[in-house]
Amino acid sequence: MYAVTAATGQLGRLVVEALTDHVPRSSIVAVVRDAAKASDLGVTVRQADYGDADALAAALQGVRRVLLIAATDMNERVRHHGNVVEAARRAGVAFLAYTSVLHADRWPVAAFRSHAETEAIVRASGLSFAILRNGWYGENNTIGLAQALAHGAILGAAGSGRIAWAARRDYAEAAATVLLGGDIHHGQIYELAGDRALTLADLAAEVSRQTGRTVTYADLPEDAYAQVMLQAGLPEPLARVLAEVDARAIAMGLLDDESRALSGLIGRPTTPMSETVRAALA
Ligand SMILES: NC(=O)c1ccc[n+]([C@@H]2O[C@H](COP(=O)([O-])OP(=O)(O)OC[C@H]3O[C@@H](n4cnc5c(N)ncnc54)[C@H](OP(=O)(O)O)[C@@H]3O)[C@@H](O)[C@H]2O)c1
Repeated sequence: MYAVTAATGQLGRLVVEALTDHVPRSSIVAVVRDAAKASDLGVTVRQADYGDADALAAALQGVRRVLLIAATDMNERVRHHGNVVEAARRAGVAFLAYTSVLHADRWPVAAFRSHAETEAIVRASGLSFAILRNGWYGENNTIGLAQALAHGAILGAAGSGRIAWAARRDYAEAAATVLLGGDIHHGQIYELAGDRALTLADLAAEVSRQTGRTVTYADLPEDAYAQVMLQAGLPEPLARVLAEVDARAIAMGLLDDESRALSGLIGRPTTPMSETVRAALA
């Protein structure tokens, strides 16, 4: 039995889909907090919130390998992840893979330290494990394309920092590969990123090329970028974190990586950012 947590999320759904290409649906367990949202997944659904350790242990009964997809609640994240790891131990799970962040041990952004803290919990658990240090989803930077086109500008505070974007689907396929794989993955820390890194200025040029409209990259100081997002209606903590990510992580090269571990795991080149842009424009 293979279990995927947060299986109703965008990444979780893609992992479940990738698993169904290789194993029967009856051997896949979707662990979700809202079972109603999972009725279309076509696999076994078990309900458990990350905050409920007992429900998690019950949901993982009979499961041999589990994928823990990182929780969204930044304030509760480490506790939530600890609950899943402990539940996996109690349920006798043999192997746990955790979706961390690229170069998790080097992040200066406080909200992202939860990944390194979770990795430590996983390592100390005694479970056999793998860490999937996921880089940036290309989709993160295409959701705002309509606005960028309306204003002729992509805003950010990342300077000329390079981002090795890959599509969410690429990371999902890698997670499925590791979940389905054998002992070779045990104890591995995979730095997962796209084959080719681009800057936000390169992204603006790509959008211009595909649309025939002029879009440039406007680089702002961290605080000014946070203010723009606040004025656009983002909650203050999120605006601050996103500006910090640009100025303190992307600008420092933390979302760039040349290991090609992601294309190695999925057995094909990663999805180029041009394709993610094309899909978003369509
Ligand atoms: N690498 C990147 O670029 C990147 C970007 C964004 C996020 N992330 C991280 O990767 C994770 C997956 O990304 P995604 O795009 O799939 O996010 P998403 O679409 O927002 O999905 C989040 C999932 O987490 C579930 N969830 C939230 N709180 C929960 C709780 N207390 N108990 C159980 N489940 C809970 C949600 O359940 P419901 O469906 O019930 O809401 C949903 O299934 C995110 O949670 C985040 O940590 C990474």
